[in-house]
Amino acid sequence: MTEPSTTPKLRSRAWFDNPANIDMTALYLERYLNFGLSLEELQSGKPIIGIAQTGSDLSPCNRHHLVLAERVREGIREAGGIVLEFPVHPIQETGKRPTAGLDRNLAYLGLVEVLYGYPLDGVVLTIGCDKTTPAALMAAATVNIPAIALSVGPMLNGWHKGERTGSGTIVWKARQMLAAGEIDDKEFIRLVASSAPSTGYCNTMGTATTMNSLAEALGMSLPGSAAIPAPYRDRQEVSYITGKRIVEMVAEDLKPSDILTRQAFHNAIRVNSAIGGSTNAPIHLAALARHIGVDLPLKDWETEGHKVPLLVNLQPAGEYLGEDYYRAGGVPAVVNQLMGQGLIHEDALTVNGRTMGDNCRGVEIEDEKVIRPYDQPLKEEAGFIVLSGNLFDAAIMKTSVIGTEFRERYLSNPNDPDAFEGPAVVFDGPEDYHHRIDDPSLGITPETLMFMRGAGPIGYPGAAEVVNMRPPAYLITEGVHALPCIGDGRQSGTSGSPSILNASPEAAAMGGLALLRTGDRVRIDLNKGTADVLLSDEELTQRRDALVAAGGYQYPASQTPWQEMQRAVVGQMNTGAILEGAEKYQRIAQT
Ligand code: FES
Ligand code: MG
Repeated sequence: MTEPSTTPKLRSRAWFDNPANIDMTALYLERYLNFGLSLEELQSGKPIIGIAQTGSDLSPCNRHHLVLAERVREGIREAGGIVLEFPVHPIQETGKRPTAGLDRNLAYLGLVEVLYGYPLDGVVLTIGCDKTTPAALMAAATVNIPAIALSVGPMLNGWHKGERTGSGTIVWKARQMLAAGEIDDKEFIRLVASSAPSTGYCNTMGTATTMNSLAEALGMSLPGSAAIPAPYRDRQEVSYITGKRIVEMVAEDLKPSDILTRQAFHNAIRVNSAIGGSTNAPIHLAALARHIGVDLPLKDWETEGHKVPLLVNLQPAGEYLGEDYYRAGGVPAVVNQLMGQGLIHEDALTVNGRTMGDNCRGVEIEDEKVIRPYDQPLKEEAGFIVLSGNLFDAAIMKTSVIGTEFRERYLSNPNDPDAFEGPAVVFDGPEDYHHRIDDPSLGITPETLMFMRGAGPIGYPGAAEVVNMRPPAYLITEGVHALPCIGDGRQSGTSGSPSILNASPEAAAMGGLALLRTGDRVRIDLNKGTADVLLSDEELTQRRDALVAAGGYQYPASQTPWQEMQRAVVGQMNTGAILEGAEKYQRIAQT
């Protein structure tokens, strides 16, 4: 290990040990002493390491970080660092109204100010629940001080009557069972609660497991650390090692910009296909790429990722859960399979100072039911496809979750196997959908394509996870479990619905979806990657002119100051839904 005291130019010394401005140094020092830190520590030349704490009572998924931080502290201390732990704005996926998506950019903004404005030489980013991971990584990218991510880990497996119940995924299933009258309210709650047996984040391959796996695939957390379940002793141990490692990273001046290269993002895209990762990943990786200054067009998800097979057998695409994923080898076992096919940029650098190739080479799969060898995948070509047309410029579809029922109903025309067409039923926001979905007068049939609009970053501030709509109850009882769903909102990573989502620009930004009417025929061609309403350009122009004259697409008023502020500057999901303009500020700790 490099001796920390020889590290050149620690930025914290400008606060605590700056002979050129002794007056300010005295002021800064004085107050940081008042809880017991000593002059000797603060002026020792030891690196000052932040722990960006995302755990709290409001964030149950990340709450275990309050415990893990003790081990992180011990690691930092042992390696010769001084610890300053501080809170990050909480983002609980399931608890925040109207949607946790609204707070990713707020937490980002807050963390940028903390990392830039306080005497921190390096930071441990405590990640977990869906949006906490991108928010923390995005902020570390903007500021660009040495940073290492520590996952809180998934919950233990959930069980109900001898079967694995996965968080989130069981909710979608239980809702269908409730709608079909198979279970009552009490059983519904019991079933859902069974999926959350311990501390940690969603045990399915939802957005949390996805983003924590991708943080590791990007090289931003220690190899093998993402999948460790929250309550396991290994989780405590890796917290300690993470604390030790950040001190070394400061000495080595190993920064996010050294790790988050275009190659690293392409590695992450391929890992995302192999794990069956969430449709939220393209949004968050686009945002992270923009904040670190890497060019990552949405189309890269298709060109780099579509052909990669699904190897990880986790719900919602498969059967198993987080504990199984860890026992089977986690991210390194997946990466090693991809490496065997030349699908990984092996020389991408990671936080441990070694390359992705060196970290993962030879890591064997421990259970081939859970992580499949490359030549025995669960599904071929399991990545996303990117669609465009007169309804939107860009949207994505997770093809790995297309099930047999859906394939037989929509993708079985021998002359046209990748295309389907049908009449649209259009909902304006989730409330409209909930009010009307079971109304028989809507005339929804198995041929219907259901549209959700007004659910994008502007229309429903933060973008709602609502595109995966269940069919009306009368169709479910007839055995129709999924209709094609298309929309400008997001979809929970725990949903197994093959929706077309993240459509950009959204209706609220006057994208083509704003012009669609119930009854219009729409054609989707997955092979060509097109989605079009079958109307003439003249008709669409007329509708657009009329809508503009009427004041544009209407959406609900903001309820909080932040909603209004974010709506004014947020970009569309195909480019990360970031606060436009924030990407101008790069590597700001170096300026
Ligand atoms: Fe937090 Fe799923 S709700 S990880
Ligand atoms: Mg989610």
